[in-house]
Amino acid sequence: MQVDWLARYPDLAPAIREVILAPDVIQNRIAELGVAITRDYRDRDPVFIGVLKGVLFFMADLLRQVPLPLEVDFLAVSNYSKESRDQGLVRLMKDLDVPLTGRHVIFVEDVIDTGLTLNYLLRILRSQHPASLEVCVLFNKARHRLIDIPIKYKGFDLPDRFVVGYGLDHREKYRNLPFVGLLKPEAILEAPEDNGD
Ligand code: IMP
Ligand code: MG
Repeated sequence: MQVDWLARYPDLAPAIREVILAPDVIQNRIAELGVAITRDYRDRDPVFIGVLKGVLFFMADLLRQVPLPLEVDFLAVSNYSKESRDQGLVRLMKDLDVPLTGRHVIFVEDVIDTGLTLNYLLRILRSQHPASLEVCVLFNKARHRLIDIPIKYKGFDLPDRFVVGYGLDHREKYRNLPFVGLLKPEAILEAPEDNGD
């Protein structure tokens, strides 16, 4: 049965042009990623690291598809300015509680665009000498990539369009949509301000 997802979110739907990934499509793919990670990390006590806030929903759904003993921790970052963002410089607002030395680490991201932020954060994690470090990204926008980062687990390739939902925001709104949608041009106020997540 075709669900009219926009009809279920009447207060947010007027800004959405089109649903491009329905909730069941997202969840099915996450279940597949969970199977792959479970297979690869049995007996390795993995640590999952995410960056707040965009990864909130993905992390919660992914971890429930990985029935292993595991730990989870979060970083919070903020960008100093547009210029520093362009250099991939971010300020850590919350550091990790779990020491990563000797641990098998999976860095979980909602979306990777240029790769600058992710590259910077991976350098920070590597400096703690984890036993292994792999990347798991739900949404990949390859067109803007400036830095080639090996992605071990990937959910979806997305077109080079600004999308919201399932954790992704426009000015902090729309994260709670269970689907991914394209914003109408008139709902994009200006160049999306980046809050580093
Ligand atoms: P980059 O890979 O360093 O360019 O940074 C990616 C960050 O930009 C993500 O963590 C998001 O905060 C933001 N971002 C990129 N594309 C989108 C989008 O389509 N919707 C919402 N946020 C996005
Ligand atoms: Mg954002």
